[in-house]
Amino acid sequence: MSKSAEAALQELFAAAKAAQANAYAPYSRFKVGAALRSESGAVHSGCNVENAAYPQGACAETGAISAMALAGDRRIAEILVIGDGEALCTPCGGCRQRIREFAAPTTPIHIAGPEGVRSTFTLAELLPESFGPEHLSV
Ligand code: THU
Repeated sequence: MSKSAEAALQELFAAAKAAQANAYAPYSRFKVGAALRSESGAVHSGCNVENAAYPQGACAETGAISAMALAGDRRIAEILVIGDGEALCTPCGGCRQRIREFAAPTTPIHIAGPEGVRSTFTLAELLPESFGPEHLSV
């Protein structure tokens, strides 16, 4: 990886980690942070926000995508998700589809733990043969 790509990834990691610290997860006690770089170069982040009515909770990726849309950006260049524990904190099925709306099959999805990035997948690896906006152009 080039030095500038490495620095860009570190910036995403720091933003996601800061977001994770603000997660509201009193029910699962599993705090998640997400940060994405849009094609404009801006970084947008989000954290999970749970609710006493459990299904109303929102994932960290959802928050980051909302922040991106609010800022007027529409394309995800790369996204990083951070969670604690041993297992890879990969996006849930719903969030894979939410990312899909604004990303390309080759868009990198980095999965991190507290110590740093653990694995990187493409969107197509996590959501193969996906349905997207272009399918509606019939
Ligand atoms: N969660 C996320 O925010 N993103 C993920 O990628 C996986 C799961 C949240 C949802 C819920 O608040 C908590 O983690 C436990 O599932």
